[in-house]
Amino acid sequence: MQPLIAPSILSADFARLGEEVEEVLNAGADVIHFDVMDNHYVPNLTIGPMVCKALRDYGITAPIDVHLMVKPVDRIIPDFAAAGASIITFHPEASEHIDRTLQTIKEHGCQAGLVFNPATPLHYLDYVMDKIDVILLMSVNPGFGGQSFLPSTLDKLRQVKARIKASGREIRLQVDGGVNVNNIGEIAAAGADMFVAGSAIFNQQDYAEVIQQMRQQISM
Ligand code: DX5
Ligand code: ZN
Repeated sequence: MQPLIAPSILSADFARLGEEVEEVLNAGADVIHFDVMDNHYVPNLTIGPMVCKALRDYGITAPIDVHLMVKPVDRIIPDFAAAGASIITFHPEASEHIDRTLQTIKEHGCQAGLVFNPATPLHYLDYVMDKIDVILLMSVNPGFGGQSFLPSTLDKLRQVKARIKASGREIRLQVDGGVNVNNIGEIAAAGADMFVAGSAIFNQQDYAEVIQQMRQQISM
């Protein structure tokens, strides 16, 4: 699978969000990672469907990957689908009915995925491998950008990669939190093929340079 780089707009300048997203896409990003936090499931509050729609209205056509850190999950899904989301992922602990939530995402025409916090067990995958398009492993505890990558994620990535292989399905393996130019190589080697990076990209002056450096590390 072609590796995908997905800048997290959590670290973008929200006062100029449309321009920031345009710039990072022109700099070579593949997907826009859109972090939704509710100050309930996670201790922070960010953006909702209106902002996703505003990006579409601004002319952004790249895939938007909506990472829902909200509880409850289900009732916000139709709104995000209508607002132009391409992928919607959620945390299984935040859903009362995981299978139903996955179905709701698919029924609304989006790709669906489960997100695993650092200490969330992988058994949530047991009965849904045939229904998911993306698995997202958090390599920090969710809620904030700029945290350090937790090395225990590497072994978890290898385990999930093996499960994906065994399933015979094309499932994206995404990693989110503390990804940067220095560790992206070993993260790719452990099996990830979709890389979310917020502060590592948006805290740099030259987005194209950092994205290019990341690509170099994962194509080796
Ligand atoms: C954390 C978010 C991440 C975050 C990543 O809860 O899900 O997407 O923005 O930021 P960095 O890359 O700075 O760790
Ligand atoms: Zn995220």
